[in-house]
Amino acid sequence: SSADLRGLVDEDHARNRFRVHRSALTDPAVLEIERQRIFDRCWLYLGHESELAGPGSFVARTINHRPLIFVRDGEGRIRAFFNVCPHRGALVCRERAGKAKSFQCAYHGWTFSNAGRLIGQPGKEAYPDGFNADGAYDLPEVPRLEVCHGFVFINYDAAAEPLDVYLGGAKFYLELIALQGAAGMEIVGGTQEYSARANWKLLLENSADGYHAPTAHASYFDYLSDRDGDAYKNRKFSYNKAFGQVLDLGNGHAVSESQGAIPWGRPVARWVPGWGEEAQADIDRIRVELVERLGPEKAEMVAERDYNLLIFPNLAVLNIMAVTVRTFYPVAPDYFEVRAWAMAPKGEPEAVKDRRLRNFLEFLGPGGFATPDDVEMLELCQQGYQASIGAPWNDLSKGMFREAEYAAKQDELQMRTFWRQWRDMMAAEERIAFREAG
Ligand code: FES
Ligand code: FE
Repeated sequence: SSADLRGLVDEDHARNRFRVHRSALTDPAVLEIERQRIFDRCWLYLGHESELAGPGSFVARTINHRPLIFVRDGEGRIRAFFNVCPHRGALVCRERAGKAKSFQCAYHGWTFSNAGRLIGQPGKEAYPDGFNADGAYDLPEVPRLEVCHGFVFINYDAAAEPLDVYLGGAKFYLELIALQGAAGMEIVGGTQEYSARANWKLLLENSADGYHAPTAHASYFDYLSDRDGDAYKNRKFSYNKAFGQVLDLGNGHAVSESQGAIPWGRPVARWVPGWGEEAQADIDRIRVELVERLGPEKAEMVAERDYNLLIFPNLAVLNIMAVTVRTFYPVAPDYFEVRAWAMAPKGEPEAVKDRRLRNFLEFLGPGGFATPDDVEMLELCQQGYQASIGAPWNDLSKGMFREAEYAAKQDELQMRTFWRQWRDMMAAEERIAFREAG
C-alpha cells in the first residue's frame, strides 16, 4: 500500500535520522511500482541532439522497457516514436543507429517515413480507401518530447508539466554545460554501455557521493601521487568544509559543487597538472574565447566549476573530467544497464577533443579508474542486502543535522533529496505536480 511504500523511507528530524529500508533496493514489487509511478511520470533523458547529425539520423533506444526510435525527420525536427508496428506489433527498426528516409517492418513490409507516416503497404488494394485517414496506422509518437540546451527528454505522461518546470534549478547547470562550446556541445567517442548486478538507485547515489572517493578510489589517488608527486597524498582535502557544497535543486534534483577545482579534476578552461604540459596553450586559448563570448563572470563559472549534477530519477551529468553524461535503467531489482557518453564543445580541434575523451576514459569510462571500483562497491552492497535480517536499513543521515544551513560535498543531502522525491512519487496513486523552482 501507499503507507507501506512511504514507510520505506524513514525520515526523523528529531533524531537526525534518515534511513532507507533495503527492500526498496531488492523487492520486485517495488520495481514494478517504480516503472509506473516514477519512470512513466517523470521526464527521462533520451539523448543529445548531436547524436542526430542530419535529417534521417536515428538511434534505436529502450527507455523504461519501451523500445523507441529517436530520429531527426526529413525537415530536421527531433522526434521520438514507439518502435512498434501498428499492424501486428513487430519492432519496426532493428538497427541500433543509422540514417534512413523510411523504416520498413520486416514482418509484412509496411513502410513508415522518418516522420512516422505510413507510406507503404504491400497489397494495399485489400484495404479500403482512406484506411489511414486519421493517422491511426502511423508510428505512434511518444506523448511528450522537449529539449533543454541540447539535452533531449521525453515523458510518457501527456499531462506532465513542461520540462522547464520539472528541471527547476537543474536547468542552470545544463546551461553551463552547453555554454562550454560556442556552438554547443557534442558527443565524442559514441555510446559506452555497461551493467552492474545492483539496484539502479545505487548508481544515482554513487554518482555524486563525495564520501566514498578517498576509500573506494584509493588506487587512483596512489596513481596520481606516483605521477604528480605529493599533492594527493593528504586525502584529508576531501573532508575540508571549504571544499564544496551540495544544493537541493527541487523536484528531486541536486548538485554537488566544488569551490574551485577539485585536485584531480580538469576544469573546462583552467590549466591544472592533470591536463599535461602540452595542453596549456590550448586551455589558455579556450579561456580567452569564453571570456570574449560570455564576459568575465559567466566565463569564470563555465571555466572553473566542477560539479556532479543529479537529475531525478536517473540522469547524472558529471563535469569533473571532461563532461560525462550517464543514464541507467533497471532490468531487475538487482541488475541495471548504463549508457554513458563523453561530451565536448562542438568543433574543437581534434587534439583537444581527444584529450577530453581520454579524461573520460581514464576515470569515469567503463574501464577507467573509477567505474570498475564503483561497480564493485554497488555489487558489494547488493550482496550485503541478502543478509538484511541483521540490518535492514541503509543510513543516509550524514550532515542531516545541519542541512538547513549547509551541506558539504561529503554529506548525503543529495541522496536524501532523491529519496524524498522517490518516496512522495511512490506513495502517490495519482500523479503529483512538479514544483516550479523557488
Ligand atoms: Fe509490421 Fe505486419 S507487423 S507489417
Ligand atoms: Fe566513484
